[in-house]
Amino acid sequence: MTEAAILSRLSEARGAFPGLVTGEGQPWHYLDTAATAQKPRAVIDAMARALGEDYATVHRGVYARSAEMTLAYEAARRRVAEFLGGKEDEIVFTRGATEAINLVAATWGAANIGAGDRILLSTLEHHSNIVPWQMLAERVGAHIDVCPLTDDHRIDLDAAEAMLTERHKLVAFGHVSNVLGSVLDAQRAAALAHAVGAKLLLDGCQAAPRLTLDIAALDCDFYVFSAHKLYGPTGIGALWARSEILDGMPPYQGGGAMIDRVTFEKTTYAPAPQRFEAGTPAITEAIALHAAIDFVDGLGLDAIHARESELVTQLRDELGAMNDVTIFGPAGSAGIVSFAMDGVHPHDLGTILDEANVAIRAGHHCAQPLMDHLGVPATARASFGLYSDESDIEALLAGIARTRRIFA
Ligand SMILES: Cc1ncc(COP(=O)(O)O)c(C=O)c1O
Repeated sequence: MTEAAILSRLSEARGAFPGLVTGEGQPWHYLDTAATAQKPRAVIDAMARALGEDYATVHRGVYARSAEMTLAYEAARRRVAEFLGGKEDEIVFTRGATEAINLVAATWGAANIGAGDRILLSTLEHHSNIVPWQMLAERVGAHIDVCPLTDDHRIDLDAAEAMLTERHKLVAFGHVSNVLGSVLDAQRAAALAHAVGAKLLLDGCQAAPRLTLDIAALDCDFYVFSAHKLYGPTGIGALWARSEILDGMPPYQGGGAMIDRVTFEKTTYAPAPQRFEAGTPAITEAIALHAAIDFVDGLGLDAIHARESELVTQLRDELGAMNDVTIFGPAGSAGIVSFAMDGVHPHDLGTILDEANVAIRAGHHCAQPLMDHLGVPATARASFGLYSDESDIEALLAGIARTRRIFA
């Protein structure tokens, strides 16, 4: 497809998102997709159908509607597997990336990380990829090491190589930083982890909506993402784990659906992935996630990434020409630009921008250790989605100019 054809498909796609207009029918310049993406009509409709005329429980019903719902739920699992390049029995549905990481920490982590062992994280991690490991480390007497960043704010894999030892059992890195947009060289991270016998977990929350993924090529051991950042609903996400690892993991939560046989004397468990999905699952959310993946794949992640990268370059060029603005993160960042304006707190900037129908995120972005490293309490963050275009950047720049006048 030509570049012009891709552009026209992406700008047409903007019309599929009912959330991108204000209550007064004005364009809403939504630059907070890294927090959560707007939903296309196809996802909203799929969820409404699943909650309405198709609704029934899964895995238990003997009636036809339940059997159909079970097929749809399992088809969603297959679709996630295909999207990541894994096998369907390697996909565990979770409430989101946070729960997926907690699941790995509570099951694989508790069984494989012990006193004196080490876990390597990085300075730029989201709290979801820090706190579960800290909780585990405290419980079992393990140690957390923190891989520093390069001068241009990427995870410093040379430093990781120097830090890793045979005591490291796990490396857990963000595939794409939610603050800086920095893209990890995941293959090298996997090679470094595996060279000392450690496993690699990738937090793919910001990568799944932006990069074409191929789990086999990445060579990681665990991959997690949240559906709501991938244009799907809240309340569902996925963990992918290599089957030989998943099969050996003890259960997470106990309850219905995760068992083989229950007696008061002894309970045996279902095989993976059911062993990790206790209780009635997020049925309608899984079906809507399936629709979201179809929507995104229909446009093509390469095209989405290329378009977002153009917008990132354009915004970085504009902000880079302002002598009262500091940009954080590397030039080749994916879809996300964090910055600070001299003398203006990001919350004030965000409030003034909101008056002009521009939505950015201002704060620590659940990455307080990164804020400490950058030496700021907060940043302003503009993050793009497949529906973003130049009009969003123009509105943001106009709002920045207005803020400057107000604070002058
Ligand atoms: C990089 C990253 N990791 C983890 C999370 C947590 O995702 P969730 O809140 O959907 O579980 C987020 C969400 O902001 C994120 O951006």
